[in-house]
Amino acid sequence: MEALNERIDALEKELASMDSAPEGGVESFRISYLGKKGHLRGLYDGMREVPNESKREIGQRINAIKQQVESLIASWSTSEKPSSGKHAQLDMSRPGLPVGMGARHPISMVRDEIVSIFSRIGFSVSEGPEIEDDWHNFSALNFPPEHPARDMQDTFFVDGDHALRTHTSSVQVRVMENERPPIRTISPGRVFRNEAISARSHCIFHQIEGLYIDKGVSFADLKQTLLYFAREFFGPESDIRLRPSYFPFTEPSAEVDVYWGLETEADYRITKGTGWLEVMGCGMVDPAVLSNSNIDPDQYSGFAFGMGVERIAMLRYQVPDIRLFFENDLRFLEQFRGAGS
Ligand code: DAH
Repeated sequence: MEALNERIDALEKELASMDSAPEGGVESFRISYLGKKGHLRGLYDGMREVPNESKREIGQRINAIKQQVESLIASWSTSEKPSSGKHAQLDMSRPGLPVGMGARHPISMVRDEIVSIFSRIGFSVSEGPEIEDDWHNFSALNFPPEHPARDMQDTFFVDGDHALRTHTSSVQVRVMENERPPIRTISPGRVFRNEAISARSHCIFHQIEGLYIDKGVSFADLKQTLLYFAREFFGPESDIRLRPSYFPFTEPSAEVDVYWGLETEADYRITKGTGWLEVMGCGMVDPAVLSNSNIDPDQYSGFAFGMGVERIAMLRYQVPDIRLFFENDLRFLEQFRGAGS
């Protein structure tokens, strides 16, 4: 009890004599008083020895010390600004802090490259909302009401009539509703699916949708357009093949494979030993979809295609896990510094 009183006296004296910030700096002063092993901790520990009748008085003195320390620290911290004290003169000759150069995200780079390849042959860019109504995401695209793609497993519903779009094909419908042919457009954007996240699939990813509507557009035009794309993107030696497939909004529909090659062991692994890689879906726009969007299928025909940007970026940069694109880990992203456009 006596010892505690003496320590309190000594600290009060020390504080009373402080008229400017301590030599050792405000932070070490703060630690010496308020830190885990600081004076105040010691004083509060000492309280245990204090008889009950003195607890109130001693406690008040200790609290006063604490308040004084806090207000001293506050006053020094504000006066430590360069306008006074030892930083009064701003040294204009000091080297600045380095500005770190950012890197473009691999998904942006791949998306922009694909957009620029199609814009060279006259495709404009169009966008649509990420929260989409049932009509644009499903009904107008020929998904019957009981189609499994509308099921809770695949779709994030917002309310009875709205969901996060599950593909960028919804933008097709919006463009056809608002523009008259000839239409040549690509629609890059984010899409959402209620799927388990793994190395190969994510609940958020990006797609690029393509649409071409005019008089007399044929399947040959589709194939030639996609071959042009494959050679621009994957290299002039590239080849494509179309395999019959099914999508509700195209008839006929096809899956597009690009020839990747079979030179290295990795090529075998990536292509499962075939040399071919599936990169997108495509087809001739179903006449019912044209009518749904107020385009006369007797006058006009068209093709559409849709590809996943992550998948193509994974191929281009040999990224083994789709989750890397969403984690914003600088160790991953910094590797793309200087890559691409
Ligand atoms: N919307 C399809 C999907 O998300 C991709 C697709 C396939 C788009 C064929 C198309 C198409 O325009 O013709 O899987």
